[in-house]
Amino acid sequence: MRLWIFFALALLWLEVQHGLCQQTTRNKEAGENRTRPGRKRVKGRNPKVKEKESVSKGQSILTQVLDKGRFLRLGETLSLNPGKTLELRCKGTKIGWAYPSYLDTYNDNRLSIKQHDRFSQLILTSPSAADTGEYSCWVMLCDGEECERDADSTSKTYIYFTDKDELFVPSPIHFEIAYLHPDKHTTVPCRVTNPKIRVSLHREVPPKEIPVDGTQISYNPTKGFIIQTPSPEHKGAYYCKANSTTKSTPQISTMYQLLYVEVPSGPPFATIKASSNTVSGGDIFNLTCTVLGEPEMNVNFSWRYPGQDQRPVIIQDSWRLINRGVGHTTRISKSVLIVDDAETIDFGKYICTAKNKNGETSVATSVKSHD
Ligand SMILES: *[C@@H]1O[C@H](CO)[C@@H](O)[C@H](O)[C@H]1NC(C)=O
Ligand SMILES: *[C@@H]1O[C@H](CO)[C@@H](O)[C@H](O)[C@H]1NC(C)=O
Ligand SMILES: *[C@@H]1O[C@H](CO)[C@@H](O)[C@H](O)[C@H]1NC(C)=O
Ligand SMILES: *[C@@H]1O[C@H](CO)[C@@H](O)[C@H](O)[C@H]1NC(C)=O
Repeated sequence: MRLWIFFALALLWLEVQHGLCQQTTRNKEAGENRTRPGRKRVKGRNPKVKEKESVSKGQSILTQVLDKGRFLRLGETLSLNPGKTLELRCKGTKIGWAYPSYLDTYNDNRLSIKQHDRFSQLILTSPSAADTGEYSCWVMLCDGEECERDADSTSKTYIYFTDKDELFVPSPIHFEIAYLHPDKHTTVPCRVTNPKIRVSLHREVPPKEIPVDGTQISYNPTKGFIIQTPSPEHKGAYYCKANSTTKSTPQISTMYQLLYVEVPSGPPFATIKASSNTVSGGDIFNLTCTVLGEPEMNVNFSWRYPGQDQRPVIIQDSWRLINRGVGHTTRISKSVLIVDDAETIDFGKYICTAKNKNGETSVATSVKSHD
């Protein structure tokens, strides 16, 4: 709902602001001898593309299309007024794009991407403060059907849709959770729509402004507040405050709940337990493989068992978050393998392998015949 409101405001504001235009800078290149081998430019194919530069190493392939067929080669950041359709182009016969994930989450039909012969075109109509973020493109190198990203070609730019009524990039979530890990930095993601806005970080209880020293706690307008080495003392509810240059009252961001995670990063810590290690023929039994870990860490389970490929079993995977004391959260991931109507073939070793992005752990237990 809130998004629609600011969207309307952004449009209204556009009406007022119309005329303010992005400055054009043309990149007059000195050395034309740096053309990359294997990426020869074919001249004059697209009369609309007036650029003379060749694509050389390290140069952005990403441009913004301005009025009257002019182009702006994009650097690190760009500030635009909301409302006015954004058109980006990226040179290449097969191009991949990345843009704020928000546009995908809401399957936004304001966004369209079209691959032309020599370039790919990204159009975002009615952009608003919420579309502030990184836009990037890269060349896809294809060998028949198989394509891979040419990482060297990646060009990116961070676009601010500067809205004087929305100092913070609006978040679809009103209450966000950020995790504090002892071994990595934490970000309180209150990003702004204009890099010039001054932002402060506040704890809710007890009410307190957090001092920003630039090292332990720093602010980056494209990311938010970064806490370098989080400790349990940092847990709690926070918000960010932005001072407007045009308004007397500051703006408050979404609320952020910082939770402390005690489990260090690493391969999963798994345990296995059989409902019973000795069963009789015809019994129903199950094995539970459990992993305690970081709240956002996905765990995948796989099983090896005596009757593999020969008899059907039921495998149920699930996970949930459990609170272990104030601000301490752990994710409990489980895989349960159920064997109904035990037979001789089911006796033996059951091995569960739990895998996360840091590695895998296998645990085993045996199920024997009662007789
Ligand atoms: C290529 O251009 C660079 C400057 O861009 C210059 O230093 C170099 O001498 C040139 N090399 C040749 C072979 O022209
Ligand atoms: C915002 O303005 C208030 C009052 O003018 C001032 O006390 C505060 O320090 C300012 N905050 C920042 C982050 O500049
Ligand atoms: C596994 O077996 C135990 C003991 O028989 C039972 O209490 C539990 O509900 C079973 N779990 C599942 C998922 O079937
Ligand atoms: C778990 O499996 C899913 C789907 O098969 C996959 O996308 C994901 O990358 C896997 N995660 C890990 C940690 O292996």
